[in-house]
Amino acid sequence: MKKPWSGRFTKPTDETVEAFTASIHFDARLLEYDILGSIAHARMLGKTEIIPAADSEQIVSGLEQVLVGLKSGNARLDPSLEDVHMNVEALLAERIGEVAGKLHTARSRNDQVATDVRMYLKDEIDAVSGLIKALQRTIVGQAQENLDIVMPGYTHLQHAQPVLLSHHLMAYFWMLQRDAERLADCRKRVDVLPLGSGALAGTPFPIDREFVAKELGFSTISQNSMDAVADRDFIAEFLAACSIIMAHLSRFSEDIILWNSHEFKFIELDDSVTTGSSIMPQKKNPDVAELVRGKTGRVYGDLISLLTVIKGLPMTYNRDLQEDKEPLFDAVDTVKGSLEVFEVMLRSAKFDAKRMAEDLRGDFSTATDLADATVIYGKPFRVSHEMTGKQVRKLIESGKGLEDLTAEDVQEMAVDPAFLLKRIDPKGSAAAKNVPGGTARERVEEQIAAALEILGAQP
Ligand code: ARG
Repeated sequence: MKKPWSGRFTKPTDETVEAFTASIHFDARLLEYDILGSIAHARMLGKTEIIPAADSEQIVSGLEQVLVGLKSGNARLDPSLEDVHMNVEALLAERIGEVAGKLHTARSRNDQVATDVRMYLKDEIDAVSGLIKALQRTIVGQAQENLDIVMPGYTHLQHAQPVLLSHHLMAYFWMLQRDAERLADCRKRVDVLPLGSGALAGTPFPIDREFVAKELGFSTISQNSMDAVADRDFIAEFLAACSIIMAHLSRFSEDIILWNSHEFKFIELDDSVTTGSSIMPQKKNPDVAELVRGKTGRVYGDLISLLTVIKGLPMTYNRDLQEDKEPLFDAVDTVKGSLEVFEVMLRSAKFDAKRMAEDLRGDFSTATDLADATVIYGKPFRVSHEMTGKQVRKLIESGKGLEDLTAEDVQEMAVDPAFLLKRIDPKGSAAAKNVPGGTARERVEEQIAAALEILGAQP
């Protein structure tokens, strides 16, 4: 097929150059957006009488046919036409002939590609947000179902203080909530129409950008044609948000991998979401969680790739910017896949309350409660800490745990023994953390109510 720039050239493109510069094998993903963008542009060209109304109508109906043809798999994409934009134009020309040549009036591939990517990204942000919400729902469901299970809470991967499993799970709800908010915020900056910027300077034709924005569902139009074709910060922002989502999923995965180990045995993953070993018959591996953790690196890489592409580019459009798409598409696929499969894995997980209770025995995780109890009876915390430390050391030396403390042992601490013994029981310890955001049952119920309100209010 003849290249649109053939007038200027005396030689055909070298094959290696053609293969190297083509992007159709990945930007074909933008086909539908490219066609919808072209339909809106053609309508605008007719409406403003930049081209005759009849030509505009012919182009619009031709583009609609091209879209139908592509959807039914009848259209052939040609790598020698470089990219999605030139392929669509060629397919249009096949259908309607020479009048197709009027479509590219008052636009450039530079403002066109920025428009396509923004349209695509708005839809994908909505899709990712929907998947985040589905996972948040499952987290809340598991928290409700396992509301009262007490487990060790960790710092430094050492037993620190008892917490409710529901509290631990809900921590991820809030992380994902901020992820959703970050995406919603990023979406505002994606939702700006670049079309009408031309190659970089604008266009001499009396175009109607507001009309195109309305047709394509953009909230607003870009204010500077050079900025509109040169920057990809909106993609960088999205990739940063994706990187944080993956960081959260990766940490959650790590918890699940640990909980699924022989040492913890806190969780039983469903057979349908685990895999076996080709050699060791006893194995049931948490591959889903491991892969989510592993794929986090790809998404970080996508962000760094794009930031590196942008860095040092002279104004305005440079072909380097074609390298924005593969990192973007890879991150979209990876984040969507990870959120989806993580939800499936979590939904069917069973938690072992007995194992967690056993694990709290002899772990001294309520030592702080012992110290706190003496503070309530008037001792300065630093004195209590010291006294409790001595008790802990004595118990360790005699091979005992805090649960072995007797009323007699605690006599010298000048605290009502009944009160104290209740506080050093893991359940009592968790129940006592009755502050907003604390792990007491009522407080977790409060969070769950707030979470459900958020989930209900969001579209
Ligand atoms: N395929 C190109 C890209 O993704 C489209 C824009 C081409 N513009 C140009 N001046 N060569 O960036």
